[in-house]
Amino acid sequence: MESLIKENWKGERQVARVHDYFETGILCRIANMLMLSKAARAIPKPPARKVYGMLRRFNVHPRTLFRYKLVLGIETSCDDTGAAVVDETGTVLGEALHSQADVHLKTGGIVPPVAQQLHRENIQRIVEETLSASGISPSDLSAIAATVKPGLALSLGVGLSFSLQLVNQFKKPFIPVHHMEAHALTIRLTNKVEFPFLVLLISGGHCLLALVQGVSDFLLLGKSLDIAPGDMLDKVARRLSLIKHPECSTMSGGKAIEHLAKEGNRFHFTINPPMQNAKNCDFSFTGLQHVINKLITHKEKEEGIEKGQILSSAADIAAAVQHATACHLAKRTHRAILFCKQKNLLSPANAVLVASGGVASNLYIRKALEIVASAEQCTLLCPPQRLCTDNGIMIAWNGIERLRAGLGVLHDVENIRYEPKCPLGVDISREVAEAAIKVPRLKMAF
Ligand code: KG4
Ligand code: ZN
Repeated sequence: MESLIKENWKGERQVARVHDYFETGILCRIANMLMLSKAARAIPKPPARKVYGMLRRFNVHPRTLFRYKLVLGIETSCDDTGAAVVDETGTVLGEALHSQADVHLKTGGIVPPVAQQLHRENIQRIVEETLSASGISPSDLSAIAATVKPGLALSLGVGLSFSLQLVNQFKKPFIPVHHMEAHALTIRLTNKVEFPFLVLLISGGHCLLALVQGVSDFLLLGKSLDIAPGDMLDKVARRLSLIKHPECSTMSGGKAIEHLAKEGNRFHFTINPPMQNAKNCDFSFTGLQHVINKLITHKEKEEGIEKGQILSSAADIAAAVQHATACHLAKRTHRAILFCKQKNLLSPANAVLVASGGVASNLYIRKALEIVASAEQCTLLCPPQRLCTDNGIMIAWNGIERLRAGLGVLHDVENIRYEPKCPLGVDISREVAEAAIKVPRLKMAF
C-alpha cells in the first residue's frame, strides 16, 4: 500500500485511487505502443503532448513510464515571476507566469523593492499552478533550476530562497541558471539547432553577441558599452508619454514604439545609428537616447506643447528610432557573422544566427537581421515571441540541458549565492576589434 501513497508538492500525503493503478497497466501498453515500439513507428506518431495529456487524465505520469528527466524551472531575475516543468524531450508539462509590467509601467520603471514584494506575493501561487498544470508532484522531479544571475538582487533573492526551500524539502538536486545562457539556449527547445551557433541577446537589461559552442561554453564577441536597447526604447517611450496613447497604454516601451512606428514615416527624421566607425561588435544606446530626447524637446517647442503631451510627430519619431536601432543591431551582428566565418568558428555551409530576448520579439528588427542573415547565407532563428521575453520555460529547459550534459548540477547548496552582475562566457571582444572587419553596405529597405 505504501507505493500508492504519494506526497504532493506541499508535502501532504495523498492516497492514489486504486482504479488509477488498474488503468495504468492498460495505459502503459497503449503509450508504449504509440511512442516506443518499433512496430508502432509504422503508424503516424501522435505528438508527445497528446500522449502526455491522455496519460495525465488517468493520473499516470509519463516519467513513470518513460523515465524522462523532468525539471522545474523558476525565474525571478527582473519583473516576471515564472515557473515551468519541462521534460527532456522539450515538452512543457505545465507553466505559469505573473508579469509585473502594468505596475512598473505606472511608476515609470522598475522599483526593485516593489518588484521584490510582488515576487514574494506571487511565487508560491505560480509554482503551485505550474505543478498542478503539470500533474506531477515535486517528488517526480529530477531537479529544480532557478535563475541566480545576473539580475536585480532583490528579485533574484526571492526566487533563489524559494527554490532552495523546495530543494531541501524534497531532497532534489539544484541547478543554478545564468539568465542569458537560458535566453540563448531556448532556441534548442523550439528548433533542432546544433552547436555552434551565433546568438544576439537583446532585452531591457542586456545586449550581447556571443558564439554558443556548448551548453555553458560561450565566446563573448561584443556587448553594450552602456544601456540595453530595450532600456533605451522604454526611456524614449516614456519621454514620448506613450502610456497616455490609447493604443499603447498597456504595452512595454519597446512594444509601444513598434506599434506606433507602423503608422509613422521614418524618413521625416534622420537619426544616424551609433558607432559607425568602430569596427567591433560592441553596441551603444545612450547617445541615441540623447539625440532623440533633444529631437523631442525641439518638436515640443515647434508644436507648442508641454512635456507630457503626445507630439503629432510621435509615430514618425518612433519609426526613426526603431530604424536606427535595427540598423545598429544588424550592422554589429553582420560583423560578428563575418568574424566567425573568418576564424572558422561557424560552419560555412550551415551557419545559424539566433536572436532572442524581449527586443527580439520586434518584427522590424527581425527583418533587418533577416537581411543580414540572408546576405551571408545564414539561417536566422528566433524563439516564438512569448519565449523571447522572460519566462519559466527557458529556465527549466536550461536545467534539462545542464542535466543532460552533467554540468552544474548541485547536490550541496550550502554556498550558493545570487550574483546581480555576471558576464557570459569568455570575452574575445578585443580580438574581434583587432580583426577590424569592414562590413559591406546592405540596403536596409523594408
Ligand atoms: O527579455 P525581457 O522580457 O526582460 C529583460 O530581461 O529585460 O525584455 C524586456 C524588454 C523591455 O525593454 C521591452 O520594452 C522590450 O523588451 N520589448 C520590445 C518589444 N517587446 C518587448 N522591444 C522592442 N519591440 C518589441 N515588440
Ligand atoms: Zn531576459
